[in-house]
Amino acid sequence: MAIHPPESRVWWNEPIAKAELIWIVIAFVWGLLMFFMMIYWHIYGQQNLSTQVGRIDPAVFEQRTNEFAEKFKIREEGDTGIPVAKPLPGGDAYMLARTFDWWPVLELEKGKPYKLHISSLDMQHGFSLQPINMNIQVHPGLEHIITITPKEVGVYGVICNEYCGLGHHVMTGRIYVVEPGQGG
Ligand code: CUA
Repeated sequence: MAIHPPESRVWWNEPIAKAELIWIVIAFVWGLLMFFMMIYWHIYGQQNLSTQVGRIDPAVFEQRTNEFAEKFKIREEGDTGIPVAKPLPGGDAYMLARTFDWWPVLELEKGKPYKLHISSLDMQHGFSLQPINMNIQVHPGLEHIITITPKEVGVYGVICNEYCGLGHHVMTGRIYVVEPGQGG
């Protein structure tokens, strides 16, 4: 037999060793602290995205994104043929996820608010904006509308962080943030 019963049948009546008691207290206090931190950060932490989520037909989302990209296209991304769309400050921006694309590329102005619409056409993908590490789970049929205001000029990468198939690792996108009135 690999498993033996405890020597003393009533093992739970034995006094707790001091070291074990200390660890129980530490774990309990830490758990309590984290519980209240959760509430504190929810209110003051600024890590919660101001997101609205609604249902949307993937075909409708695709159509809106296509119309957006066509209307606001300012150039193409390198020789990829992927449009770079520059929405109006304060306006709507669309980015769709599909195997294995984030489409189109966006160019935003620093310090201006945008409503970023994100959804998937086929399956679950993970929108991960790097290097600031903003993460959103993206499902077909659900549209996230996130109010964002870019704070730093730069080139941001979008990577997929939910495994979605053979091309998961090449599913990347891009967002440019430029000074107001520049870029284009
Ligand atoms: Cu899309 Cu992984």
